[in-house]
Amino acid sequence: MTLSQTHPLMDGRTADSPLITAYRGGKPSRRPVWFMRQAGRSLPEYRALRKGVAMLESCLNPELASEITVQPVRRHDVDAGIFFSDIVIPLKLAGVGVDIVPGVGPVLDAPIRTAADVAALPTLTDEALEPIREAVRLTVAQLGKTPLVGFAGAPFTLAAYMVEGKPSRDHLGPRTMMHADPAAWQALTRWAADASGMFLRAQLEAGASAGQLFDSWAGSLGLADYTRYVAPASSRALDHVRDLGAPLIHFGTGTSELLGAMHDVGVDVIGVDYRLPLDVANRRLGGKVPLQGNIDPALLSAPWEVLEAHVREVITAGAAAPGHVLNLGHGVPPEADPAVLTRVVELIHSIQP
Ligand code: CP3
Repeated sequence: MTLSQTHPLMDGRTADSPLITAYRGGKPSRRPVWFMRQAGRSLPEYRALRKGVAMLESCLNPELASEITVQPVRRHDVDAGIFFSDIVIPLKLAGVGVDIVPGVGPVLDAPIRTAADVAALPTLTDEALEPIREAVRLTVAQLGKTPLVGFAGAPFTLAAYMVEGKPSRDHLGPRTMMHADPAAWQALTRWAADASGMFLRAQLEAGASAGQLFDSWAGSLGLADYTRYVAPASSRALDHVRDLGAPLIHFGTGTSELLGAMHDVGVDVIGVDYRLPLDVANRRLGGKVPLQGNIDPALLSAPWEVLEAHVREVITAGAAAPGHVLNLGHGVPPEADPAVLTRVVELIHSIQP
């Protein structure tokens, strides 16, 4: 299967955009930049739209999800939209009891801890993903030549929420389970891989031009555990979309030691968090992989001169890689000043590629 001839990546709208060109290791007409969590609480227009609407409800309302996705593109002139949704939406659409508690994160009605819990998980159907496809169609109709990045949670990060039942710092539950009951762990991460893979495929088929797998918590794993208990499931998630030919990005935090293994699951681009300079990341990846990142979100609140010097450093460090898309090293903090983000975009666009 390939994407339809009316897909933005196929009909001339986004294939030559700065973002897709850089993801493919080519020379873009301007330096591409977007921000993880560019949609969301840092924007007053987002807070206004979300008044009285719960997070998951807003994700499942196609008009609302689409408008929220487009808001930061309009405001900042970034080179991509990131689809407004959440990594737990496929769980919700499968029928798993899950909510996003403001200020906390995803919380499940009942944690998934045993082989029997895993066996009882409902199966996500393609029909259930229709609100996602509709939101993507509405979004790309508005974005024109600006590509939409679709995304999904990697199986480890999803499983971490499912086993703990809520956010946690050390992810002891999933790390115990992978060793104590490897069969149940494998079944759980396969379930998560298929749910995330279907979620990502729905976005790509409906019009997203690239797909990012977020393994936000993979940094709590050592390389041996990552390679043995996690990488095969991440690869399985991406097996759902490889035939489509859209660029695939893999991002996690605290993953400096895992970059090679994260590339080996079969992606085109590695997202680097703020801990590792891009020239070092590039060397670790053999100088062959386009990179995305890695402005430190903490510096968004520093004086402009400090932030500008940092952005220039990130650009210099990224120049060694075969392609570089500017982004933050993790999401936009809710307290970030949106005017600063707009100014960062202007600065990046003002520096010749
Ligand atoms: O601009 C974007 O990046 C928009 C889309 C997006 C959201 N979540 C919206 C969201 C994406 C790509 C995600 C992915 C996501 N969700 C990840 C991976 C990325 C990362 O940040 O590491 C993770 C771990 C989650 C789980 C999750 N959902 C958390 C930890 C939270 C924060 C809880 C809080 O209130 O602090 C959420 C909720 C969430 N997802 C919000 C947004 C905009 C905040 C909800 C709100 O505005 O009330």
